[in-house]
Amino acid sequence: MYTTHAHITTWVVALILFFVALALYKSGNSKGSKIVHMILRLFYILIIVTGAFLFFKFQSIDPALYGIKMLDGLLVIGMLEMILVRLKKGKGTGLFWILMIIFFIIALYLGFVKLPL
Ligand code: HEM
Repeated sequence: MYTTHAHITTWVVALILFFVALALYKSGNSKGSKIVHMILRLFYILIIVTGAFLFFKFQSIDPALYGIKMLDGLLVIGMLEMILVRLKKGKGTGLFWILMIIFFIIALYLGFVKLPL
C-alpha cells in the first residue's frame, strides 16, 4: 500500500547499517565505519522522505497521532546518530541506547498497531 513497504525497507536497511557501522567503530576500523556511517545518513534521508510522503498523504485521518509518529520517527533517527557520534568520540552512549529503544518501540507500536495503514 503506497510506500509503507518502501518506508519499512528503508528503516530496516538503516538499522542493519547502524549495527555494521557500530561494529566497525568498535573494532577501530575508522575508514570502513566512516563509509558505512555516510551510507546510513543517506538512508536517514530516505526514511524521512518515505515517511513524509505517507504523512502528507494520510495525516488528515488522525493529524495528532500522525504528528506524533513523525516526531517519534525523527527522534529514533536522532538517537541512532547520537549513539554513533558519541561512540566515535569515546563518550557514554547508555542513555541514548535507552531512549533509542523506547522511541523505536513507540514507532513500531504507532506504525503497526495504532495507525491505520
Ligand atoms: C527509524 C525510524 C522509523 C521507524 C522504525 C518507523 C516505523 C514505521 C512503521 C513500523 C510503520 C508502519 C508501516 C505499515 O503499517 O505498513 C510506519 C509508518 C509510517 N511512518 Fe514511520 N518509522 C520511522 C521514521 C519515520 C519518519 C521520520 C516519519 C516522518 C517523517 C515517519 C512517518 C510515517 C508515517 C506517516 C507512516 C504511516 C502510518 C500509518 O498510517 O500506518 N516514520 N513507520
